[in-house]
Amino acid sequence: MENYQKSKVILGLMRITDLSKDEVYQLIKGALDLGIHYFDTADFYGHGLSEEKLGEVLKEHPELRSQMFIQTKCGLVPAANGDKYLDLSYEHIKEALNASLKRMNITYVDSFLLHRVDIFMDNKEIARAIQELYKEGKIRHFGVSNMDINIIKYLQEYIDLPIEVDQLQVSLGQPALISQPLNVNFPQQVPNISDGLFFYLKKKNIALQCWSPYQIGFFEGSIFNEERLPKLNAKLKELAKKYNSTKCGIATSFLTMLGEHVSVITGATNLNYVKETLEGATLVMSKEDWYDLYCSTGNLLP
Ligand SMILES: NC(=O)c1ccc[n+]([C@@H]2O[C@H](COP(=O)([O-])OP(=O)(O)OC[C@H]3O[C@@H](n4cnc5c(N)ncnc54)[C@H](OP(=O)(O)O)[C@@H]3O)[C@@H](O)[C@H]2O)c1
Repeated sequence: MENYQKSKVILGLMRITDLSKDEVYQLIKGALDLGIHYFDTADFYGHGLSEEKLGEVLKEHPELRSQMFIQTKCGLVPAANGDKYLDLSYEHIKEALNASLKRMNITYVDSFLLHRVDIFMDNKEIARAIQELYKEGKIRHFGVSNMDINIIKYLQEYIDLPIEVDQLQVSLGQPALISQPLNVNFPQQVPNISDGLFFYLKKKNIALQCWSPYQIGFFEGSIFNEERLPKLNAKLKELAKKYNSTKCGIATSFLTMLGEHVSVITGATNLNYVKETLEGATLVMSKEDWYDLYCSTGNLLP
């Protein structure tokens, strides 16, 4: 099971909420057959529905559990007004994980992440919740999502378990994490975010899991939309031809080339797309082509 943590491709289950039980089974079984064992969900996806759908499949096919490395998250909570709020209190973390386990029909998760920052969170309280869940055998690994260096250091202070994952949005449509170190002395070129985070994760060997790897901005559509991003798509096509790959394969390689600790979470529900991601995850382009691709979305090099 430990090797699954080194997976370059993770299957994200955020978009399975409209699928039937059989379709979810076919997707999970198909991914396993392709060699993907790492699955990512969260209690917030479909307000529990993503975990519930996974749970229905596991109830009917319990033999799949031992082949799966299941990761879920807590902290985002549906609000009465239809929007959301954040809660990383001791009580909420414990309640949320227990509810997730129940929905998924499992007794433990392989990895448990704090989904977003809650401004009221307290590192001692979080350490107590996480360590109790670990001792109870309900979580095996721990990590965070959408957090920067200072927050990671703050959370790590009282927790014996290492923070092993930081799940962040990184893609050709949202490259800020990469653009920051490339432009340290050129602040006019990039917004001032994620200061030093990319190399901090690399140094600490914290897995960088890239979410929404093919989306523009925050769920604004696909980077493969030729009308919206003509220059990028022309470059993706050109490189796909050169490397005997696909546009998705090239966009995946753009991310997985960033280091051994980097993986891609595909949100595809179509197994043919999942195959394209898998193929791209082992593809290594020349550095010259990588930078050319980076610049094709309008990014500047220093
Ligand atoms: N930590 C966080 O805050 C956070 C936030 C958002 C998401 N996530 C995680 O990241 C995962 C992925 O997010 P996402 O679903 O937005 O990622 P995504 O893979 O960038 O987007 C998925 C969409 O792209 C399409 N697609 C995928 N591969 C394609 C290909 N080869 N060609 C054409 N279209 C393709 C999919 O189509 P089909 O549906 O037709 O296959 C789907 O509509 C989620 O499932 C979740 O686990 C984490």
